[in-house]
Amino acid sequence: MDLTFSDLFPVGRDEKEKRLRQHAKVIWMTGLSGSGKTTIALGLEKELFDRGFLVQLLDGDLVRSGINANLQFSVEDRTENIRRIAEISKLFIHCGIVTINCFISPTNKIRAMARKIIGTADFIEVYMNSSLAVCETRDTKGLYARARRGEIKEFTGIDSPFETPEHPDLVLKTDEITIEETIQKALDYILPKIQISQSFHE
Ligand code: ADX
Repeated sequence: MDLTFSDLFPVGRDEKEKRLRQHAKVIWMTGLSGSGKTTIALGLEKELFDRGFLVQLLDGDLVRSGINANLQFSVEDRTENIRRIAEISKLFIHCGIVTINCFISPTNKIRAMARKIIGTADFIEVYMNSSLAVCETRDTKGLYARARRGEIKEFTGIDSPFETPEHPDLVLKTDEITIEETIQKALDYILPKIQISQSFHE
């Protein structure tokens, strides 16, 4: 018999969302390294927190130094990385928490898996659309230069693919608009989806 969340947690998600006065969603940011995922997520987290929302941020570099420290960058390991993150995110949203995820999640198959685990109704896919040329020029961590020198293998955009998302809920052209404008666009899209109506609260 498959156990469900309601078997395991007698206090339901609805009650937790009412307590927190928010609808939980997973905001899934996908894009190349250097496309601005973490920068925008940090800004977004602050803006949402200042408006009274409880938000948890999950980021590739952090998660890969902890729970996913045993994973590398083969297709299999990236898939396992995203599978675990999606399962963790599901736990967060069942606690009523808005979760912002910053993972390259490079292929349509990987993103579809995350969407399936989390559930379409709770999954907001945000494509951080910045050209490879711009990401490589920024090269904030110096990783593109190392990948070009062959010191890092299977680097996304260099010798490992990034597939353009087919049906993102929101596209942010982070190589064309400022950080502040990008955060504002994300906020405008996300706020109506996490705000609770008065009737839900009563
Ligand atoms: S994912 O493909 O599995 O979604 P994830 O977002 O967790 O990747 O990790 C990406 C981060 O790992 C990058 O921002 C970068 O700092 C680091 N990294 C190290 N090696 C690679 C690589 N070969 N490809 C992409 N990112 C790498």
